[in-house]
Amino acid sequence: MEFIKGKGQVKAEIIINGTKKFEEYGFNGKDGEVLVLAEKKRIYVGIEKINAENIKTATASIIKSLKKYKFESVEITPPNTKKEEILISFFEGFMLGDYEFDKYKNEKAKHPVKKIAINSKREYADLIIEAKIRANTINFVRDVINSVPDEITPPKLAAIAEDVAKENKLECKIYDENYLYENGYHAFYAVGKASSNPPRLIHLTYKPKNPKRKIVLIGKGLCYDSGGLSLKPADYMVTMKSDKSGAVTVLGIIKAVSELKLDIEVHAILGAAENMIGGNAYKPDDVLKAKNSKTIEVRNTDAEGRLVLADCLCYADEEIKEYDEIYDFATLTGACVVGLGEYTAGVMGFNKEKIENIIKNAQLAGEHFAYLPFNKYLPKLLKSNIADICNIASSRYGGALTAGVFLSEFVKNKDKWTHLDIAGPAFVEKEWGFNPYGASGFGVDTFINYLKSL
Ligand code: BES
Ligand code: ZN
Ligand code: ZN
Repeated sequence: MEFIKGKGQVKAEIIINGTKKFEEYGFNGKDGEVLVLAEKKRIYVGIEKINAENIKTATASIIKSLKKYKFESVEITPPNTKKEEILISFFEGFMLGDYEFDKYKNEKAKHPVKKIAINSKREYADLIIEAKIRANTINFVRDVINSVPDEITPPKLAAIAEDVAKENKLECKIYDENYLYENGYHAFYAVGKASSNPPRLIHLTYKPKNPKRKIVLIGKGLCYDSGGLSLKPADYMVTMKSDKSGAVTVLGIIKAVSELKLDIEVHAILGAAENMIGGNAYKPDDVLKAKNSKTIEVRNTDAEGRLVLADCLCYADEEIKEYDEIYDFATLTGACVVGLGEYTAGVMGFNKEKIENIIKNAQLAGEHFAYLPFNKYLPKLLKSNIADICNIASSRYGGALTAGVFLSEFVKNKDKWTHLDIAGPAFVEKEWGFNPYGASGFGVDTFINYLKSL
């Protein structure tokens, strides 16, 4: 897809809250409405008001709606605004809307619209470059998450990370199961041990010359989560290829950051493993020792993400000297999806300012994060009679929060840490907004905004 100046075959217009109507066609210009007048070579999309989410959704739906036609170019005037996030969203939406995951289909998706003709005298070249980097990254993240577990094993995810590192001149270290075992990352090791596809800890670094800040991003990379011996019911196991979303998201973020040449040092740590069953599987009743020497009573092998992340958080404290901030991205709990719904991620931590910053930058990206506050009663729910902590809470309520509290036990400086539970929006089995069926690439745009704002 290419952005050009001048005329296109079809004219597109974004209508704000019914300022233009075509009552004869039942089009009132309300949010989400689309009208294609193919003979007149016009397309109209309604939005309620101008913001990043609505604009991204509008341009995405222009591309989606034109798929059944043969028009090769669309002409459109960008919104009359100086706000960068709106304009970037405007350009990005076309490319996000053009995404379809057809890798395993014999009949491939159609991409008739090749050119977006920008009808304006203004110069948008820099914004278009940035929008392309963002959208290509998000579509890459979607592709990897959507790919099946038989293909994306932990070693394969490591190979994909190596390719990203090579293309973008990033440092890339890959550690295998022996390293994890020999160096005391036994919580992470235990989760992966029943699989014939061994775990990998992947550490990428982007180091510009004079970085303003040093930021660590950790991602849960469960290439498959069967639940382990605490096996998931059949219906809940489907879609668990998406349990690697956190890891793939942080891979996407470091890729985009390096392509945008931001002045921030970024470390991406991907904890890749498969949670499977077998004669050598870790068990409910096992006690595992994480790298920071804390012992964990396993009472449910399906609460595996926190075990992998616990050791990844320890790895960051051991191996990355004096970082400023640390974030973890994880499809961690079903409870977070129950509480906030499929379209909103949970954000937890002790540093209210950082949390507010994430929520603000998410709004500018058209993504939704909600703050879930910890309190002093929660840690008690993780008490174990035989170890330092238990991997599940004694209460059935507040599962997203107790998972977050568990993670906090493995971070040295709690004020630097923020936890993002993306279990809802990372993968949704229907189209929504500017997102397709399946993986969304959620979190990438929010974080690029945030890192750019530093
Ligand atoms: N990967 C799941 C969480 C999940 C659920 C992600 C639904 C996306 C959609 C996680 O490993 C898990 O199974 N968590 C358990 C924790 C429980 C055993 C304390 C859960 O949420 O049920
Ligand atoms: Zn699980
Ligand atoms: Zn999981």
